[in-house]
Amino acid sequence: VAYTVVIPAAGRGKRMGADANKLMLSLRGKPIIAWTLQVFDTDPWCEHIVLAIRPEERDWFEAMMAHIDTPITYVIGGEERQQSVYAGLLVVETDTIVMIHDGARPFVKREQLHQVAEAALQGGAILAVPVKDTVKQVERHQIEQTVPRENLWLAQTPQAFQAKAILSAHEKAVERQVLGTDDASLFEWLGETVQVVPGDYHNIKMTTPEDLLFGDAILAKGDLQ
Ligand code: CTP
Ligand code: MG
Repeated sequence: VAYTVVIPAAGRGKRMGADANKLMLSLRGKPIIAWTLQVFDTDPWCEHIVLAIRPEERDWFEAMMAHIDTPITYVIGGEERQQSVYAGLLVVETDTIVMIHDGARPFVKREQLHQVAEAALQGGAILAVPVKDTVKQVERHQIEQTVPRENLWLAQTPQAFQAKAILSAHEKAVERQVLGTDDASLFEWLGETVQVVPGDYHNIKMTTPEDLLFGDAILAKGDLQ
């Protein structure tokens, strides 16, 4: 299943607390975004990479991508992740499967990419993992209730769709000023089906400083692909 991947990489990384975009931080000698791109560059199903970046970081990213063989298109990201993804979708050919994948998730496995791409032939599809912890709903530091966990999953990326369907969902969201935290939520909002492909707990998002420690450990194990 041939696909295009849209990678939002235009965040600031506030929760990481670094001075620069967290995707530039190094893990085992390579920037986080380079690990993420390697996964797609080496996947024979991936035909085109679309990277949403901040304009002032363009030179850094272009130097970083010099050795990537897959065709790359750069677009300028927006203030919110959703706007960055939308900017990317605008340059994707309409007649393909598109994967949307966080630049900050370097540990996704090819086998799982392929499962999501195949599922997307039937509608929206995302990777997700079951919640492991007990979840409390809290109001002013007081527990309101324990949320039954059996049906709770944590959404990951990639999230995959027919390109024209997710582009149309984003256009409607812009029109009605709807902002979702992921792309599947726009599909859900429109009443379209989204399939969950059971994912892998290694596919974490580099969000806060301790994630760098976990990431280092995952790479040290060395059995990602
Ligand atoms: N992203 C983006 N454009 C934005 C915000 C986020 O392209 N306006 C990208 C990030 O670069 C990241 C992915 O979306 O690859 C997931 O977002 P997140 O983990 O929230 O990254 P940041 O927004 O950079 O971090 P924070 O929310 O802590 O500031
Ligand atoms: Mg963010």
